[in-house]
Amino acid sequence: MSSAPQDPLHQLIRERMTGLPVMEHDPADGLPLQVVGFGPDEVIEATEAMVETFVTMGARVRRFEAAFASWVGCRQAVMVNSGSSANLLLWTSLVAAGRLRPGDEVLVPAVGWSTTLFPVIQAGLCAVMVDVEPRGLCMDPAAAAKAMGPRTKAAFPVHLLGATAEIEPLRELGLLVAEDACSGHGAEQGGHRAGGLGIAGAFSFFFSHHITTVEGGIVVTDDAELADCMRSMRAHGWIRERSDAAALAAAHPHVDPRFLFVTPGFNLRPTEMAAAFGLHQLPRLDGFVQRRRANHQHWCRLVQQAGLPLTVFPEQAGTVHAGFAFPMQIAADAPYTRAELLAFLEARRIATRPISGSNLARQPAFASLAATRIPHPLPVADAVHERGFFVGNSHAFGPGHGELLVRSLQEFHHG
Ligand SMILES: Cc1ncc(COP(=O)(O)O)c(C=O)c1O
Repeated sequence: MSSAPQDPLHQLIRERMTGLPVMEHDPADGLPLQVVGFGPDEVIEATEAMVETFVTMGARVRRFEAAFASWVGCRQAVMVNSGSSANLLLWTSLVAAGRLRPGDEVLVPAVGWSTTLFPVIQAGLCAVMVDVEPRGLCMDPAAAAKAMGPRTKAAFPVHLLGATAEIEPLRELGLLVAEDACSGHGAEQGGHRAGGLGIAGAFSFFFSHHITTVEGGIVVTDDAELADCMRSMRAHGWIRERSDAAALAAAHPHVDPRFLFVTPGFNLRPTEMAAAFGLHQLPRLDGFVQRRRANHQHWCRLVQQAGLPLTVFPEQAGTVHAGFAFPMQIAADAPYTRAELLAFLEARRIATRPISGSNLARQPAFASLAATRIPHPLPVADAVHERGFFVGNSHAFGPGHGELLVRSLQEFHHG
């Protein structure tokens, strides 16, 4: 049996990338935030795009969009150059498509990423800051109900660090719900994937996320009209990638359809190299999520059994926790500061970070945003701000990393 001859360039890439810690990382090397999540297949496909000289948004992007939409369980997907761009595209398009009006209020969880909040304002909407629930640190539906006013029309829950935000109670409030699933790939609620639970969901494919296109993002939706609006908004406001391009061209015979602009757009387009990465990452995503979820469950048990003044955030019934990172919170009466604990962990090569933007309303940038409202105190977000932190989780980590973490935590607490 003869096998196809190996392309020497592909062979060279495979040789050069052999031994990278893509699926296995040794806890003897500490607990980093993340390890390299791609291998030779991604690099070969991206190189092919460059060798073919078709590098700007094209067939690979369309293939990846179709594959990712179907993975989430949606009919449409629009790929962009980052998760922040996905959030911006989502909210500006909801306004451009007439689903929301400028000045309408959007409930935003106080704990999220900076570019969860900013795109809402950049779309001409008003952000109402809502506290998070203490179990998974996602938007608290009871706080959301209390925060609503006559202009409140929508909500933007975040599936924080792999936890699943509750979507249904927000819909029952009559709100248009879109999801920030940028750190929630593979999180589930009632057997349905995060990102596909509301009108649209945004994902990030940044280097450190469940799957990566280096930089990249995507919005998924079942709403064909909204998806068309997003395709214009993503690329200058033109009609090229829209399903109704021919009808729009016919309706505006005085403008050359190749440069026909129907909405004030941005340029948020991805490259073919990014989609090349995505096409090879996506088939691995389920396995990555399984491993991260297993880590999350095991590490939660280990920390709980250690009996330390630390809260963990175990997977909630009826959900899948996708284990983006491993958050913890120090008890209010612990006899040490967060800075002391984190310095101790960092010295043992355990990388730490605050829990995303923590309480976004306490970030300096918040003061410069005119279109915001904080109807109630935010005690859970404040506790996260003062006492929360996370360490990395990855599909390349396993039980040994959890043991390293807990051993180090015990050493800190007991000497
Ligand atoms: C919840 C959330 N939203 C948005 C983003 C922004 O994604 P990106 O870094 O791809 O712009 C992130 C990034 O980690 C995130 O965690």
